[in-house]
Amino acid sequence: MGTHRVIGAEFIEQLRRRGQVVLEILPGDIVTAVATETAQRVGVTLLDGPLTKPALPKTDGKTTARRALYRRSPKWMAPQPVANKQARRFTKIAIVGAGGVGSTLAHLASIADIADQIMVSDIAPGLAESCALDLNHCRGMTRKEASVIGSSDLGQLAGSEVIVVTAGKPRTPGMLRSDLVATNKRVIHAIGDVIKAQAPDAIVIVITNPLDEMTHEMQRSTGFPRERVLGMAGTLDSSRFRYSLAQAAGVASSDVDAFALGNHGEEMVPVTSLASIRGKPLSDYLSDEAIDACVQNAISGGAQVVDLKKTGSAVYAPAHAVMELLDHIRGARSGAVPVSVLLQGEFGISDVVLGVPAHMGMQGLVTVEQLQLSAAELAALHKAANAIVERRTNP
Ligand code: APR
Repeated sequence: MGTHRVIGAEFIEQLRRRGQVVLEILPGDIVTAVATETAQRVGVTLLDGPLTKPALPKTDGKTTARRALYRRSPKWMAPQPVANKQARRFTKIAIVGAGGVGSTLAHLASIADIADQIMVSDIAPGLAESCALDLNHCRGMTRKEASVIGSSDLGQLAGSEVIVVTAGKPRTPGMLRSDLVATNKRVIHAIGDVIKAQAPDAIVIVITNPLDEMTHEMQRSTGFPRERVLGMAGTLDSSRFRYSLAQAAGVASSDVDAFALGNHGEEMVPVTSLASIRGKPLSDYLSDEAIDACVQNAISGGAQVVDLKKTGSAVYAPAHAVMELLDHIRGARSGAVPVSVLLQGEFGISDVVLGVPAHMGMQGLVTVEQLQLSAAELAALHKAANAIVERRTNP
């Protein structure tokens, strides 16, 4: 008989700090109640072991050899997404801007049936109404209950628990997100005034670029506490980073645990020190040059789409990334998620909106998780904050 472990909260927290999101519990192990709670809070999944070896997907010989070489243990299996069956359903969510991102999000939200009502609004006459009618026509097939309401009257967002703002101009090739400041700032303030008057208790999620700056403008415009004004970028940037790492290493995206912080733009901070592939450090799979290329890919992912598309920016991945954030808010997912919030001393930064790992709840931000970043990553986070302040003072 082997020795049995007593697993406490501190052990779980240590694992999470090292980037591990799954812990195999072997027969005879004792897991304290606090450890179970901590695991749920920090996003570590406890799996009853011993784990069985997963069937390898069919692939070319080179990838198979690499998988065999680098697999940590025959017991390894990809973690399942952290899912919670106790998820809340929203009574009403609003999406402002029925363009590419807004309409795709409305589609995803209605299929996922996450709210009783999904209200879509756009300044362009007929656009929101057509989006709503088209999506309601799907309900005869999907049999989903979520009803979609479209209106150019923004006041119809009254009573929404969450308002997602996608309104504004997207980038065209050659543009930086920061080139959109002047145009989109006006849009954000016009919408913020209505939200403040009509939905004073709502959580606002900003998608409009430049993301971090526009989230700060929304916070100023509404005067809402920082807990209820969030910017969605980190979930998107992290997904792009994970995809790039998975492609480079020849593994599935679900084998990769990685996230990106900082600014949604040139000063993004894809975190390599805590990233892992099948629970092992990136360096076990990839050279330094390959890791750098993945970091650059995450940073330029949005621009790559803009260059190919020519008129407008990405829509599908941003819309999915909002769904992930909504799932964290309604309790369908647990653990920390990267989100842009107004920092108040976390990571030594104040009065700047920046992407950081945070825990969410039905009131919005619960807490910022101050992960142990490497010195270089912390310096890059500060550089991102300084660049935002610099652009603010020298627009
Ligand atoms: N009120 C409501 N809707 C508005 C307003 C306003 N004041 N101003 C603009 N809109 C609408 C436009 O009519 C348009 O339908 O916002 C919509 C934006 O849609 P798209 O141009 O298709 O842009 P999209 O690709 O959805 O991107 C929206 O998200 O990722 C960011 O950089 C991107 O800032 C951009 C935003």
